[in-house]
Amino acid sequence: MNLHRRTLLTLAGVTAVAGCGRLSDGPGTGRLLTSKVRPPRFSRPLPIPATARPVRVTADADHYVLTQKAADVELVPGQKTRIWGYDGTFPGPTLRARTGRPMVVTMRNELPVPTSTHLHGGVNPPDSDGFPNDLTVPRGYSPAPPSSPGGRVHEASRDYQYPNDQRAATLWYHDHRMDFTGPQVWRGLAGLFLITDPAEEALPLPRDERDLPLLICDRSFDADGSFAYPAHDMAMHQPGARGEFVTGVFGDVILVNGAPWPRHEVDTARYRIRLVNASNARRYRLAFRAPDGRRLPMVQIGSDDGLLPAPVSHDEIIMTPGERHDVVVDFGDLPIGAEVTLVNDFGTGATGEVMRFVVARKVADDTRIPERLTPVDQLARKDAVAERQFDFRYDEGRWTVNGQLYDPAGSLAAPRLDTVELWRFTSDFHHPVHLHLAHFQVLSRAGQSPEPWESGWKDTVDVRPYETVEVLAKFAGHRGKYMLHCHNLEHEDMAMMANFDVV
Ligand code: C2O
Ligand code: CU
Ligand code: CU
Repeated sequence: MNLHRRTLLTLAGVTAVAGCGRLSDGPGTGRLLTSKVRPPRFSRPLPIPATARPVRVTADADHYVLTQKAADVELVPGQKTRIWGYDGTFPGPTLRARTGRPMVVTMRNELPVPTSTHLHGGVNPPDSDGFPNDLTVPRGYSPAPPSSPGGRVHEASRDYQYPNDQRAATLWYHDHRMDFTGPQVWRGLAGLFLITDPAEEALPLPRDERDLPLLICDRSFDADGSFAYPAHDMAMHQPGARGEFVTGVFGDVILVNGAPWPRHEVDTARYRIRLVNASNARRYRLAFRAPDGRRLPMVQIGSDDGLLPAPVSHDEIIMTPGERHDVVVDFGDLPIGAEVTLVNDFGTGATGEVMRFVVARKVADDTRIPERLTPVDQLARKDAVAERQFDFRYDEGRWTVNGQLYDPAGSLAAPRLDTVELWRFTSDFHHPVHLHLAHFQVLSRAGQSPEPWESGWKDTVDVRPYETVEVLAKFAGHRGKYMLHCHNLEHEDMAMMANFDVV
């Protein structure tokens, strides 16, 4: 793919704006795709994705079957949007796991394209990690997908083994097909995966209908109500996004759990709100705005891979693609009828708002946010047995890691099992850097301490233009081939991935 002149200009523009530092920071690296039709705001109720039910429970595991298929849903009034979803829903059914109880998920593919399913944040064996060329093709699919080194092809369905040997956490699963993750997730292949454990259950936190996962993403619509995406080839044979969209695709409609700018009635009580950024490229600066303009405190209790040692209160939180923030918001002081808007200060116009909460019922609330949540071993620089640097950079219409395009047979590092390494990420644009398997703690950002919402165990970190971010990654659980990549899905599809081998 050759560098288009407009692309160069756009990229230069992004650098100029984003390079000036925090004050001018914005939605990230990408380009807005304007919708031809847009749904109204705050009229749809917030959907809560259904919980998947096991088809079989054996002594060893709970067995689930999910079918990837197309379905038509009404997102724009009076029009149909064709989605690709797990069980034909977007988001897919929520998988709920308990620490130590393995799960086997049979993924059936009834879509017209190959898929690979990755559990983001999961500590899973390599052959169940959803490697980009570990594909499941629909029955009778042709042409055969190009066989790339280390690639596998399953026909019609396959099983993923999830041992769930990890702490309570908010994970999500999504498509990871080589070169096509962006368009396939955009069409709806994403869902929640929530792990709980006894330590979490013992805490007096909000639960059940007051434990709300919010899978947030942006989309754009064509005039007929279909999802618009600037792919070179909507049949998904030729990869890549057109022209300046090589930088990333921003939609101008914000969806929460698949519904555009929904509204949700709440009690005068605390809610646990699990924020998940499932957008291809868009970053959010989130806050809860009360009717008088005041911002309700967001008391963060967890990050990507589980609870924090202690709660941390914020007025706002930045969330990059792939990241999760687990927060508690208290609607207890508000009068009946009060409207609280979840706003996005990185958005402009309609993208500056995400959804609305309406206080509907007065209740007594017996929840609490304890001063101590769960113990977290705090890693220190001296714990690292090795240091490595990964440079994320634009190069001639593609995106590189350490100057290289993704090579499924290659490997940039071989960390040893059960060790901690210091990994240093450097960048030119915004790159949300994500590691498979390994969870990490953010050690520093631009030589300073990380942002206040970046404590605890994470797997995705917001790397901003010309910034260096250091993380301490712990390689535990399994040996084998895993990957790190940029979670801007257009960058990912245009080669910004690399493998590492845990040895
Ligand atoms: Cu959520 Cu490899 O990605
Ligand atoms: Cu992942
Ligand atoms: Cu990137």
